[in-house]
Amino acid sequence: MKLLDKEFEKYISELEIAERVSELAEEISENYANDEVLILSVLNGAFIFTADLIRNLQCDYQLVFVFANSYDGMESSGEVKTCYTFGRKLLQGKRVLILEDIIDTGNTLKYLLSEIHQQKPQGIEIASLLLKPDAYKLDKKIRFVGFNIPNDFVVGYGMDYNESGRNLKDIYILKHQK
Ligand code: IMP
Ligand code: MG
Repeated sequence: MKLLDKEFEKYISELEIAERVSELAEEISENYANDEVLILSVLNGAFIFTADLIRNLQCDYQLVFVFANSYDGMESSGEVKTCYTFGRKLLQGKRVLILEDIIDTGNTLKYLLSEIHQQKPQGIEIASLLLKPDAYKLDKKIRFVGFNIPNDFVVGYGMDYNESGRNLKDIYILKHQK
């Protein structure tokens, strides 16, 4: 499958994603069974994961969004920009669950964690559909992980390559040139 100038191949199917997302929703619902959770969804990439996950949740939750951007093409630019769509004071005293599409170096997460900590939440946990463990550099454990993947570029299910491919139902991985 060609997207812009790159060849990708199917990596995780729509069905596998749906099954894993519903398992994650079950784990998350159990974890927050006795307390409301404030879900902080990280846009743009996490919008489809968020929509599917919350429809499987069985716990009380509040949902808010933050835009975060650090990627330029296939490389993390290192510089993170965030834009909150709500008053950040809302985070105070809450059990916050950050929802990410994919965690690579952890650079975006590190930045978000420091901003959220300033609001003194009761706790912060992270759920990410995908994690690249070989690239991840932080000590903070990712509590809920959908799939561990190799250090390769992926698209689909909300994730983009230069704004293309977000609408793909399956997740695709960059094909290595032979
Ligand atoms: P990090 O800051 O290096 O952890 O990268 C996190 C963000 O970069 C993710 O939330 C994605 O938006 C984007 N990203 C990282 N890896 C990929 C990828 O393989 N495909 C698409 N986007 C990615
Ligand atoms: Mg993201």
